Amino acid sequence: MRKFLSAAIALAGFAACALAAAPTFQEPFTPIDAAAQNAAMGGGVNVLGYDPGWGDPAQFRFKPEYFKVIHDGGFKHVRIVLQAFQYQDADGNLPARWLNQLDTFVKAALDAGLTVILDEHDFEFCAKDAVTCGVKLNKFWQQIAPRYKDAPNRVIFEVLNEPHGVLTADLWNKQLVETVAIIRATNPTRNLIIGGADWNGLAGLPTLQLPENDRHIIATFHYYLPMEFTHQGAPWADPKVAALSGIHWGTPAEYKFLADKFDTAKAWSVANNRPLYLGEFGPFDAAPQADRIKWIMAVREAAETRGFSWGWWQWDGNFVLWDYAKPGWVEPTKNALIPPKN
Ligand code: BGC
Repeated sequence: MRKFLSAAIALAGFAACALAAAPTFQEPFTPIDAAAQNAAMGGGVNVLGYDPGWGDPAQFRFKPEYFKVIHDGGFKHVRIVLQAFQYQDADGNLPARWLNQLDTFVKAALDAGLTVILDEHDFEFCAKDAVTCGVKLNKFWQQIAPRYKDAPNRVIFEVLNEPHGVLTADLWNKQLVETVAIIRATNPTRNLIIGGADWNGLAGLPTLQLPENDRHIIATFHYYLPMEFTHQGAPWADPKVAALSGIHWGTPAEYKFLADKFDTAKAWSVANNRPLYLGEFGPFDAAPQADRIKWIMAVREAAETRGFSWGWWQWDGNFVLWDYAKPGWVEPTKNALIPPKN
């Protein structure tokens, strides 16, 4: 019996250690109006999404000190892209190591003066199995929301990236009711970011059903049009698009197409009284470079003139903004995003 008891105590101790203690924050949480927060978010960068360090910390390309580089480069927020499902155990629990790692990044980004979006990014999984997605997604937010409930308002939660496939608009709207309730149990007034079905495309916005009384929501959309330009040569794109090369962009009709799309987004934002965040945009590295730069400047300006905050896709891997070999900025892209002050 004694032996059993001490084994049980040892086990309980182990379980307690395995649970990562929630981080503490010096800056208290104070509610902030969604539109004011969106304005403060300005321009940002998607980071850490496909970094091998999540699986093996020795392999992190991204280091916490890069947040200061990002801030000093003129960006105001980061969207931390989290593919957490693969790290959940059979009960959906995330390992202490993973949670502690996330704390380190969140704290470093806050210390650097940035706003931090925590984006659950298991969109491919969710496109194939909406039921298991819902279970895993709820379990993710059951851990992340209480963990960061006392974090400053500069921490924002983005419920799920790019719902599509079997996660139809109808199912996504139902899922949102559940997941938002889970988050709101511990974070009643933290701003959330939520986009529509159909890959967070513009077409998804009108299908999105947000809780009318919850005004602490920033809506989001992603912009990669025309795909034949932005995804030419991208191996994961539709094979017909992946096979393309030498596709140009920048005719007056193409500029007008962009303006019309963003006007539609703005009209939705005004009609629904929801601020808008362009959470991802970018042309893959294989597109003709001069046109890439024109497109980046045009899309960024289209967002800024309409009062949308924006997040460049992405820091590294592809659509590269930071060249680890240098190391340093990929200057033409950086300058198109944050024009140098004369
Ligand atoms: C995906 C990336 C992809 C990008 C552009 C993102 O949402 O996570 O894998 O590179 O969209 O296609």
